[in-house]
Amino acid sequence: MLQKLSGRDYITTREWTREEIDTAIDFASKLKKQKLENIPHRLLPDKTVFLFFFDKSTRTRNSFEAGITQLGGHAHFIEASTSQAAHGESPKDMGIILASYGHAIAIRHDLVPGEGNKYMRDVAHHASVPVFNMQCDIDHPFQTLADLMTIKERFGENLKGLKIAVSWAYAPSYAKPLSVPQGLITLMTRYGMDVVLAHPPEFRLMDDQIELAHDNARDGGGSFEIVDSMDAAFENADIVYPKSWGVLELFGNPDEALKLAANYKHWICDDRIMSITNRDSIYMHCLPADRGNEVTDSVIDGPHSVIYQEAENRLHTCKSIMALTMCDQQE
Ligand code: CP
Repeated sequence: MLQKLSGRDYITTREWTREEIDTAIDFASKLKKQKLENIPHRLLPDKTVFLFFFDKSTRTRNSFEAGITQLGGHAHFIEASTSQAAHGESPKDMGIILASYGHAIAIRHDLVPGEGNKYMRDVAHHASVPVFNMQCDIDHPFQTLADLMTIKERFGENLKGLKIAVSWAYAPSYAKPLSVPQGLITLMTRYGMDVVLAHPPEFRLMDDQIELAHDNARDGGGSFEIVDSMDAAFENADIVYPKSWGVLELFGNPDEALKLAANYKHWICDDRIMSITNRDSIYMHCLPADRGNEVTDSVIDGPHSVIYQEAENRLHTCKSIMALTMCDQQE
């Protein structure tokens, strides 16, 4: 299985089978243990990954940079605005040339619906090395892989029947992409979970992602439901994942989206709403969180919260995907 993943792109989770995703998580757990025990694991000596960012990042950039260093390789950080992409250089030329310099290309392009995923597929079509999605308009597969690893660490391998609430929450900072909630509803449904999505009417997700979540729930033996209140989603939930996202039609007009969001300031994860979840429920967030708006300090810093474990798992899962896909075929 490890050999089979050599050379593969990782653009959405749905392009990897469940067996492949489980392999990536198992390998991430092994790498996590090795890091904890200071056992060197230089699996990618002298290999280069290019990190191409059209948007800001803390966790993604640094999990890739630290991760590839621990694997014996090197990351090049490229801010799109300072590259020739800003002058319109094509994804084809960029993909072919960077592939000739290194061993993988990772891209974050998440703020314009209809653009990011298409851009990285154009790069992948022409690049002869693996292409990684560091977050696009559709999916954030490195985030949801770390989320799944965190859930497995808490609940074990059999996730069937667990209720996960993926809910919109108010945030005034910026109109966040839809890719995390979409990534969650399309991945967790494959594991037989009961996935409940909650949002105010204006904050719908992409139709094809909703359809995919329904299909995955049917095939995975779980369920998928959309409700219109946080309370309905949180009731008896085992896992809650409340976070903000923008209005699909308003990514070109973020001020308008934030004005609309201000009508729903009561969509906050606080102690009251946590009290209707299951006693041992976990609170998750991909971060950054708008403290005091999306979530109260008492919840995010409280006993249900697993945010730091979840953020740490970004490192281990990122290393796992790089090691599995960037290794040489004959290794
Ligand atoms: N969760 C996540 O992707 O964090 P960054 O935006 O900081 O990379």
